[in-house]
Amino acid sequence: MARKKKIKIPKIAAVDLFCGAGGLTHGLLDESIVVKAGFDVDPVCEYAYEYNNDVPYIIKDVSKLTGKEIKDYFDDSEITVIAGCAPCQPFSKYTQGKDNTEDSKWGMLYEFARLVKQVKPDIVTMENVPQLKRHEVYTDFEKALKKLGYNINSTIAYCPDYGIPQTRHRLVLLASRHGEIKLLDPIITDPKKYKTVKETIEHLPTIRHGRKSEDDPLHMASSLSELNMKRMKASRPNGSWLDWDKKLVTPCHRKPERKTYRSVYGRMSWEEPSPTITTQFTGFGNGRFGHPEQHRALSLREGALLQTFPADYQFVAPDQPIYTKHVAKMIGNAVPVKLGQIIGASIRKHIEYLYSQAASA
Ligand SMILES: C[S@@+](CC[C@H](N)C(=O)[O-])C[C@H]1O[C@@H](n2cnc3c(N)ncnc32)[C@H](O)[C@@H]1O
Repeated sequence: MARKKKIKIPKIAAVDLFCGAGGLTHGLLDESIVVKAGFDVDPVCEYAYEYNNDVPYIIKDVSKLTGKEIKDYFDDSEITVIAGCAPCQPFSKYTQGKDNTEDSKWGMLYEFARLVKQVKPDIVTMENVPQLKRHEVYTDFEKALKKLGYNINSTIAYCPDYGIPQTRHRLVLLASRHGEIKLLDPIITDPKKYKTVKETIEHLPTIRHGRKSEDDPLHMASSLSELNMKRMKASRPNGSWLDWDKKLVTPCHRKPERKTYRSVYGRMSWEEPSPTITTQFTGFGNGRFGHPEQHRALSLREGALLQTFPADYQFVAPDQPIYTKHVAKMIGNAVPVKLGQIIGASIRKHIEYLYSQAASA
């Protein structure tokens, strides 16, 4: 029987816009995509990005970045990718000019489109919250890419379907100048097989609220007030403050219309994926962020593991103080590493298909 010919694929090179602490970059690297540089304005993420990925972190406002600078990083790379996860914060140019509503939150997408136009990479990928899809700024982004000749596919990915222990939904856009491209199909189709909180964090040492593990300074949990400790003790996994004694319920939740806010001050369940890890996950009152058994909110390390960062991912230099707010922001803002890897694998599959077609032509 004739052996299948192995197709040699050239190196795929990427730059990561709005790279943060490197969740997306790390996932792309896991698929052997060579990330040439990450761009971000926030100096706080520099250490985590460079230490864990060995990729230069360029502190730069993307609205001031030029296509030429990106091209210089690509140098003579054969396959090029611009990846990014535009922030949802107001962008002055558009808040002043267009509108001051939801659309203006994603103004940086216009800058992303400008850079795609200047660089014309082979592949573009953008990750964001699903609600972005309803906004004009997103339609404008797709229109700009179509005009440049890209084939576009967008998917709302449900993270547990991809082996991520977290019920996060994310919009993933993939676009190629060379034909159809799409996100890989889900790898887990039976919800009973979703990766759970237990499988992800149960092995970590027990810690008390306000304390940290001796082995890992990032396995640290915020302190609880006396009242919140009583609430924590009265909380059961997947329950809500409706289970508590009335004395413990906050005055604002006592109002009948607040009954819908059930997932704040909640404990997560061992047996399911966690809720979406936001930038606020270290606070018990900010969501269902209570540990399933211990009387405390999630530690920084637990949040990072639920975001599928490797167990040894470092967020702060050893000689620097750990500010919970800073680290929780890097973790909650990140693209789950595993989703980044799935995006990388989707790009790789697309390129391999193109090369196999060319080889058999
Ligand atoms: C959602 S986070 C990106 C997370 C990152 N992709 C990851 O996977 O870890 C958005 C990032 O955009 C950065 N940012 C906000 N405005 C920016 C700008 N004008 N230029 C460059 N970066 C910006 C923020 O500092 C933040 O790190």
